[in-house]
Amino acid sequence: MMRFIGLIVVTLGLGTLAAAASAADGEQVFLFYCAQCHGTGGKGDGPNVTKFLPVSPRDFTDAVEMNKLTDAHMAQVIRDGGPAISKSAMMPGWVDTLNDEEIAVLVTHIRKLCDCPGKQE
Ligand code: HEC
Repeated sequence: MMRFIGLIVVTLGLGTLAAAASAADGEQVFLFYCAQCHGTGGKGDGPNVTKFLPVSPRDFTDAVEMNKLTDAHMAQVIRDGGPAISKSAMMPGWVDTLNDEEIAVLVTHIRKLCDCPGKQE
């Protein structure tokens, strides 16, 4: 019986996740997967950032710095993680978790946080 209840809880949980993901709302996806490090407002001040984290997550509200990155670069680092662009493995890759649409809405959301167009390709 307990196992059965457990299954229901897991199923409901996945259902909620799927609903959030299918809408592909950049802010929701960001809050769910990224805010623990990058902070809810993208300032790089999430609860996972302690003195034990060897590198600071980037401040997404810094338009000058964020304008040095292209959207394609951001999509790549989100998909494949920091090491793919010779940066820290503290930035995980999300290729197994997020689909292309979710990555695209994340890039759009981060551009809203910096209020900057980004480096043009
Ligand atoms: C476990 C903590 C952690 C999580 C979770 C995390 N990041 Fe990061 N992220 C980092 C760190 C640390 C860096 C800085 C890496 C460096 O500068 O070497 C970073 C850097 C970045 C960068 C900038 C890359 C660059 O070239 O400077 C982007 C864009 C980014 N993260 C997006 C995301 C998105 C989107 C998510 C959610 C899907 C996410 N991150 C989740 C830790 C995290």
